[in-house]
Amino acid sequence: MAADSRAKAATLNLRRRLLSSSCRLFFPEDPVKIIRSQGQYLYDEQGREFLDCVNNVAHVGHCHPTVVQAAHEQNLVLNTNSRYLHDNIVDYAQRLSETLPKELSVFYFLNSGSEANDLALRLARQYTEHQDVVVLDHAYHGHLSSLIDISPYKFRDLDGQKEWVHVVCTPTSPQVSFHPQAWMTWQCLSLQAPLPDTYRGPYREDHPNPAEAYANEVKNVVNIAQEKGRKIAAFFAESLPSVAGQIIPPAGYFSQVAEHIRRAGGLFVADEIQVGFGRVGKHFWAFQLEGESFVPDIVTMGKSIGNGHPVACVVTTQAVSRAFEATGIEYFNTFGGNPVSCAVGLAVLDVLETEQLQAHATNVGSFLMEHLSQQKAKHPIIGDVRGTGLFIGVDLIKDETLRTPATEEAEYLISRLKENYILLSTDGPGRNVLKFKPPMCFSLDNAQHLVAKLDDILTDLWYFFLDMEEKVRSCKTLRIQPNSVKHPSGKRDLCLAHLHQEIHQLQLAFA
Ligand SMILES: Cc1ncc(COP(=O)(O)O)c(C=O)c1O
Repeated sequence: MAADSRAKAATLNLRRRLLSSSCRLFFPEDPVKIIRSQGQYLYDEQGREFLDCVNNVAHVGHCHPTVVQAAHEQNLVLNTNSRYLHDNIVDYAQRLSETLPKELSVFYFLNSGSEANDLALRLARQYTEHQDVVVLDHAYHGHLSSLIDISPYKFRDLDGQKEWVHVVCTPTSPQVSFHPQAWMTWQCLSLQAPLPDTYRGPYREDHPNPAEAYANEVKNVVNIAQEKGRKIAAFFAESLPSVAGQIIPPAGYFSQVAEHIRRAGGLFVADEIQVGFGRVGKHFWAFQLEGESFVPDIVTMGKSIGNGHPVACVVTTQAVSRAFEATGIEYFNTFGGNPVSCAVGLAVLDVLETEQLQAHATNVGSFLMEHLSQQKAKHPIIGDVRGTGLFIGVDLIKDETLRTPATEEAEYLISRLKENYILLSTDGPGRNVLKFKPPMCFSLDNAQHLVAKLDDILTDLWYFFLDMEEKVRSCKTLRIQPNSVKHPSGKRDLCLAHLHQEIHQLQLAFA
């Protein structure tokens, strides 16, 4: 039976019966069945076109013909493991090396971002002969056991923090108490330091030197660990923390962190799995936003590297690689670096170059940032618009003073956008940051369309609240049951938390 000939409900039933519910669906109430894709568009079983604003795996565009053709042609000839000599693997390593600082010159090929970060952890431990890892709060580095342990985003809900993991958070910061929701997941079980978030964190846009202040938090974490006799093997961070809410760390932060970590004998690992390959526009790698002289010890790549084909890579220095080789143990990965995967990787690099997608990311990203900033001026729910290239976050807030995350409103917005055939999602500890990381072929027209729809929905939301206030005032009864209030479109309950707050304020006014 062709995959697209089954009714959506039947697919859903089969999935519920045969797959674990741990494997979640987007929009679980009304999932989308996608059967075809091209460029920045996805098509459902009825042929409806959805604009994809969030899939950073389909980096140069879904089903890009050059990439598909490269895989097909290589599949016709040979696919085997990397124990035989083949040109694709060396050509690919050569091409990648041209994008990187010269110090990063030894490549390992793998199949997923998780595998890449797991190998990075092994490399760091072998080189330093230390065990411990420092990570940023709310980070995610992969689904393997070793990486769940260094992913506060996951281990907070499990059995907690291992003694060899040190997370960056400041329980004593005076501003923490003002932001209970943003900080609520911070349990400070042992050593923690804050995300370098200048909008929501303890050191903000008005701080004279947030880069130094946040880097000092990492230094404190390292010092406390050392006082307990722990030894730091590595600091892992996404070059732009995306899972943590599309954060843009202040310039100079990572360089100072690297100094503190290296002084403790550890290595700096840049996770470029979501943010590499030209997405940030100005540079090919997001860590290069720190400046020419900043060179991580290990860089991990995944997702976008293969445009949907399972490819991943770790690159490091000769010294780190030699320490790993010194164990005498072979690194063998059955599928890693096979001729098909390398042909795909090479084709992705070709498309990035021939279609000038890095420059395109700068142009479309700047346009989007400018238009989203205009929306910020118009809609108070938009607290912050931040980003670079086609990596953009829109931080939604309930109130300007506390910057309380507008979680329910963000969820509502995402579902309304989906009704308008636009796919977007949220990130961050408060699940209130709209994340834009579309395929790199996302156009100016797409950006304009997205902003217009966002504007319509936010305006609609605003009129609804205005209407509510009028109703509450005119009937002068304060016995309204917010739970019974429906959105004027009749589609769903309006963000109840916000509504409760509005009504409470009106009650006070009438009292
Ligand atoms: C920053 C980051 N690192 C690592 C991974 C793990 O990659 P994969 O799912 O390909 O194993 C992810 C996946 O979402 C990620 O976002």
